[in-house]
Amino acid sequence: MGNAKINGLRSIDLGIVDLARARDFYTGIWQLTPVAETRGGVYLRGTGPDHHIIGLHRHPVAAMLRIDLTAPDRAAVDALHDGLAGAAALTTPAAIAETGGGYGFSFRDPDGRNLRVIAESARHPDTAPRADRPGKIAHLVLNAPDPESTSDFWCRHLGFRIIDRTKALTFLNCNEDHHSIAFARGDAATLHHIAFEMPEIDSVMRGAGRMRDNGFPIEWGIGRHGPGDNVFAYFLGPEGMVIEYTAEVEQVDESYTVKGPEAWVWAPGRNDQWGIGIGPTHRMEAAQTSIGFPAEPFTPA
Ligand SMILES: [Fe+2]
Repeated sequence: MGNAKINGLRSIDLGIVDLARARDFYTGIWQLTPVAETRGGVYLRGTGPDHHIIGLHRHPVAAMLRIDLTAPDRAAVDALHDGLAGAAALTTPAAIAETGGGYGFSFRDPDGRNLRVIAESARHPDTAPRADRPGKIAHLVLNAPDPESTSDFWCRHLGFRIIDRTKALTFLNCNEDHHSIAFARGDAATLHHIAFEMPEIDSVMRGAGRMRDNGFPIEWGIGRHGPGDNVFAYFLGPEGMVIEYTAEVEQVDESYTVKGPEAWVWAPGRNDQWGIGIGPTHRMEAAQTSIGFPAEPFTPA
């Protein structure tokens, strides 16, 4: 791999049973914007520069189809590819025909997650934040049977670094955001939740109110996490996927001191810095292990 590193999390592709309903939700209530359509799907952007941040694809069961990670340039894509020789379902770096374009390759990590590394994908010039709209994917939390070995793979082969640990989670960093990925211990390689970045606390509040107006109560929050120091509100979205509005993610650099579980100890009954929110609800905790990756690599329609 040399010094080549992943430097961001661009987008995720989700398998969706009721595409029309999920599309209505993510455009009307969650406040993303369609940028491209296919026979079996739709791609949605936030207010940030990323061409799209989620793809919704018709699928027999709700699923986590793929995660798109960014590399700084083609040379980094090639170097990361070289370092992944022998990985499952590894493709050759090439121009990407799918919407957003760019240059990249796909592979499966040892737990069977479909990943793609991309550079030079299209970026939007209009990136002014909007008070109540998500800008980008802030982070993904993923379940892993052995978070230590999975984290080790992502660090060795993709250039992430472990930035903090709690009893439940291992947080991985790849840019100025405290974390872009975290691994939780789980029975299988499933989705824990998807966090969307809002411009400020007020936006999280507005988004939470909009969700409540539309019949989606807060499942956990509103609160402020320990690691990452971010404000959060969690919901149960379409197809039983757990989604989060977040803001004020701690910005870090190389000087950040990595911490362990002892750094975040809450008073009895609490699970965040504020201690004013509700949850996590049992139904949200059940949903946090329900969405898996398919057995095959993802090919969009
Ligand atoms: Fe989160």
